[in-house]
Amino acid sequence: MDRMIGVIGGSGLYEIAGLSGATWVTVDTPWGAPSDQILTGTLDGVKMAFLPRHGRGHVHSPSTVPYRANIDAMKRLGVTDLVSVSACGSFREDRAPGDFVIVDQFIDRTTLREKSFFGTGCVAHVSLAHPTCPALSDACHTAAGAAGITVHKGGTYLAMEGPQFSTMAESKLYREVWGCDVIGMTNMPEANLAREAELCYASVAMITDYDSWHPQHGEVDIAEIIATLGANADKARALVARLPGLLGAAHDPCAHGCNTALDVALLTAPEA
Ligand code: ADE
Repeated sequence: MDRMIGVIGGSGLYEIAGLSGATWVTVDTPWGAPSDQILTGTLDGVKMAFLPRHGRGHVHSPSTVPYRANIDAMKRLGVTDLVSVSACGSFREDRAPGDFVIVDQFIDRTTLREKSFFGTGCVAHVSLAHPTCPALSDACHTAAGAAGITVHKGGTYLAMEGPQFSTMAESKLYREVWGCDVIGMTNMPEANLAREAELCYASVAMITDYDSWHPQHGEVDIAEIIATLGANADKARALVARLPGLLGAAHDPCAHGCNTALDVALLTAPEA
């Protein structure tokens, strides 16, 4: 089948450049409206769809992002591979602001979000043991390296509710006891829903700060984050620009089973 690369852009990334036939389209879903219109087009002959997670003008907080509508809208457009780009804080000295991390695990501390397409009437339990697609993650890692970005392969992302940043005690718990590498507010339930939608999903986390554990960096503040966001967004655009060349225009069935996640997950018979 045709590949379509979807990109959900986080803080600082509100469009991608260079699309042929670029058009902002409105997509309706049973879960309501997505965060914004979706920018569609082609890049090097590969179909692309870009959605700004917080909306143009940054109008949705992490808790009010319509996650189900966003993933459903991407699926309806024909997205096969979904790349999540988001800002994050770092728990590691050797993961500095400006570096990117290709996240491969999550710990979910969010509390206010709808996390599943399934519920009463249709019950399914997908596996999240390996929540990201290794093939798509590899492509993101290669693309980042080719774009000259300092990139780290693998890492555990602590998803917090926000909108406030963590206390120092929380930051130390996540870093020292739970062994997390980065922290952000949006990747859960995005990864959960992408798996339910049988999409290949990769997470590119762009570090903006050291969260609040670091003795030399003190508190996280928005001024510090904004200072890094612009440069990070330029790097993210350079990464995305390399993905079509690496992935190609055809999407074969995912060797890791992302496209067949529901085959072994549905408890309600389809005809019920
Ligand atoms: N996004 C960017 N920096 C963050 C941090 N330190 N905590 C949570 N989300 C973030």
